[in-house]
Amino acid sequence: MTQGSIDWDKLGFDYIKTDLRYLSYWRDGAWQEGTLTEDNVLHISEGSTALHYGQQCFEGLKAYRCKDGSINLFRPDQNALRMQRSCARLLMPSVPTDVFIEACKKVVQANERFIPPYGSGGSLYLRPFIIGVGDNIGVRTAPEFIFSIFCVPVGPYFKGGLKPHNFVISSYDRAAPNGTGAAKVGGNYAASLMPGMQAKAQSFADCIYLDPQTHSKIEEVGSANFFAITHNDEFVTPKSASVLPGITRLSLIELAQSRLGLKVVEGDVFIDQLDTFKEAGACGTAAVITPIGGIEYNGKLHVFYSQDDVGPITRRLYSELTGIQFGDVEGPAGWVVKV
Ligand code: PLP
Ligand code: COI
Repeated sequence: MTQGSIDWDKLGFDYIKTDLRYLSYWRDGAWQEGTLTEDNVLHISEGSTALHYGQQCFEGLKAYRCKDGSINLFRPDQNALRMQRSCARLLMPSVPTDVFIEACKKVVQANERFIPPYGSGGSLYLRPFIIGVGDNIGVRTAPEFIFSIFCVPVGPYFKGGLKPHNFVISSYDRAAPNGTGAAKVGGNYAASLMPGMQAKAQSFADCIYLDPQTHSKIEEVGSANFFAITHNDEFVTPKSASVLPGITRLSLIELAQSRLGLKVVEGDVFIDQLDTFKEAGACGTAAVITPIGGIEYNGKLHVFYSQDDVGPITRRLYSELTGIQFGDVEGPAGWVVKV
C-alpha cells in the first residue's frame, strides 16, 4: 500500500509496509551499528532460538503528529527500560536507553510521510523487537541477536475507539505465577491466541485473564491492562507479578492522582466484587483507553457505567492522556520526547 492510498480516518490496526526499518545485529558480544533498510524480510538461521524456544521480546510505542506539525514520542525511555527487563528475563543482550530512543527517532523520521495527520485520531505505531538468531539446536541462549524497529500507521485497536466494549473472563491463563507474564515476550501472546479467538467468536472484544494461582482476581486483557473506578472515585488497577507493567497504566496512575485528584489503589480486583465499580476500562499503547461496557463471567454479563456511553472519569482520563500524547496538554516533565 502506498501512503497516498491510505484513508487516515479509517485506519485500523493492520500491517502496512512502510519505507524503512532499523536493523542491528549483536555479534561477538556487542551490538553493531544499526542501519535503515527497505527490506522487510529477515533472513535467519533455521536453528534460531526465536523460532524454537521463544527467545524474543518486543515493545510497542507510538509517534503522534501535533497541531503545530511537530512529532511526539510518548515515554520511550519507559519502553527501553521494559525491554531491558524482558531481555534480562530471557537471557538476551539489552539495548541501552539512548540507543533505543535514537533508533525510534530515526525510524519515525524515515517514515514521516506515514504519520497520520493531527486530528485524524491515528498515530504511527513503532514495534521494536529483539530475537535470538544464529545456528543452534540445544535449549540455550542464542549465539547472535537482531534488534529491529518497524512502524505502521494505526487507528484504534478495538473498533470504534472511545466506545464501550464487552469482554469475557477466560478460563485459560496467559502466564504462570512466576513465569514471564511481566515480560513482553511472544510466548504470553501465543498463549492468548486461542482464548482471544474464542472470545471474539462470541462477539466480545477480547478476554480478560484471572490470576493464574487462584482464578479469583482480575489480571489483565490479553493486549492491555485493566482499571476500574469505584463508587467513591478511587482508581483501582490490579497489582500482580504476572501482569505486564504497562506504560499507559503507569501514566494513568499518575494522572488520576495528580490531575483528577483520585485516590489510587494498586491491589486485588476480585471477580466477585465487580459491583464495587461504576466504570472500568482497558488501557495500553494500542488500546489507548477502551471503556469496558460489561464483563461476562460464568454466563452472566456485569454492566458497568453503560453499554453505549462512556463514564465521565474514563472520559477525563482519556482526554488528559491523549491531550498529552498529541501535544495539546502539557505533560509531566520528560513524558514527551520530540522527534
Ligand atoms: N498488557 C499487555 C498484555 C499488553 O500487551 C499491553 C500492551 O503493550 C499492555 C498490558 C499495556 O502496556 P502499555 O501501556 O505499555 O502499552
Ligand atoms: C501494545 O499496545 O503495544 C501491544 O503490544 C498490544 C498488542 C498489539 C499486542
